[in-house]
Amino acid sequence: MYARIAGTGSYLPSHVVTNADLERLVDTSDEWIRTRTGIRERRKAAEGETTGDLAFHAATAALQDAGVAPGEIDLIVLGTTTPDLVFPSTACLLQHRLGANGCAAFDVNAACSGFVYALGVADSFIRAGSARRALVVGSETLTRMVDWGDRSTCVLFGDGAGAVVLEAGDEPGILTTKLHADGGYKNLLYNPVGVSVGFRPGAENAGVSIRMSGNEVFKVAVRTLDRIVGETLEAAGMHESQVDWLIPHQANLRIIEATARRLGLPMERVIVTVDRHGNTSSGSVPLALDEAVRSGRVQRGQTLLLEAFGGGFTWASALIRY
Ligand code: UT7
Repeated sequence: MYARIAGTGSYLPSHVVTNADLERLVDTSDEWIRTRTGIRERRKAAEGETTGDLAFHAATAALQDAGVAPGEIDLIVLGTTTPDLVFPSTACLLQHRLGANGCAAFDVNAACSGFVYALGVADSFIRAGSARRALVVGSETLTRMVDWGDRSTCVLFGDGAGAVVLEAGDEPGILTTKLHADGGYKNLLYNPVGVSVGFRPGAENAGVSIRMSGNEVFKVAVRTLDRIVGETLEAAGMHESQVDWLIPHQANLRIIEATARRLGLPMERVIVTVDRHGNTSSGSVPLALDEAVRSGRVQRGQTLLLEAFGGGFTWASALIRY
């Protein structure tokens, strides 16, 4: 039994924040942001627009693309670090809004690797025969926990969501997934407040924001992604040259270029959205996938390599026959 991608969808909030907008907020420049990260603009959710809202639009588009009704879904796995509520999970809120009540639904928090983790989990459910149709979502409103006075982080992040519908079948779709974590790196990329640490009920949680040692994260990310793409291809018994498209996590163009070099892939075979989306954490890989499918670049039968790296640290990959 295999899981194959039956449909994709994505959603971006309409409000665009350009580098010029950020020049007015902090001591930065369009030139610095473009050359160090590749980012030109990112989206910001409107007041009152939530991770669940973004997820709903992306999921609706994916279901439509797959020709699957919400009632046919028997599993929802949603990757997010910015859930609407502490509980219920955003997956439960999404399930009810879609009208898929009754199926299993839960969130996965693996920071920027959230979607690829969720995909790995759903793939395992389908392979085990525990689900036949799964909705897998990555959705984030990271701009809600960005310190807009910290130039080292506020220029990087954006909001967005992507989703896929997986269906069980005999033909290989998802060939292999690899999920990893090393909690020893917690202090390089984190948010210091949670429900059981530093949270003050009824108080303004001002100052709760992303803390990142960017340069150190950068170096570990490049090394780790280099390793995981090798490990993934080896597990599937495939060679770099058999990959049609690299669909990487969109944190920094320089990290993406390093992974592409490792694979010997020209940038024409790498899906890049970081210039327009910034880093949307769990949203980034499914957003890039959906954009690539809808633009006609990714075609049925092609081989896709998805990878992500984020806080935890977590890192994950998926090799897919689309
Ligand atoms: O998605 C989860 C995983 N996250 C990542 O993969 C992010 C990984 N890290 C990165 O993408 C990069 O490290 C950054 C884009 C965050 C930073 O780029 P960098 O080339 O590593 O720069 P740096 O942190 O070494 O900083 C270089 C200089 C510093 O100034 P000094 O100390 O050399 O005088 C920073 O203060 O750039 C300064 N700087 C800025 N200058 C203008 C930092 N942020 C900015 C800014 N505008 N926004």
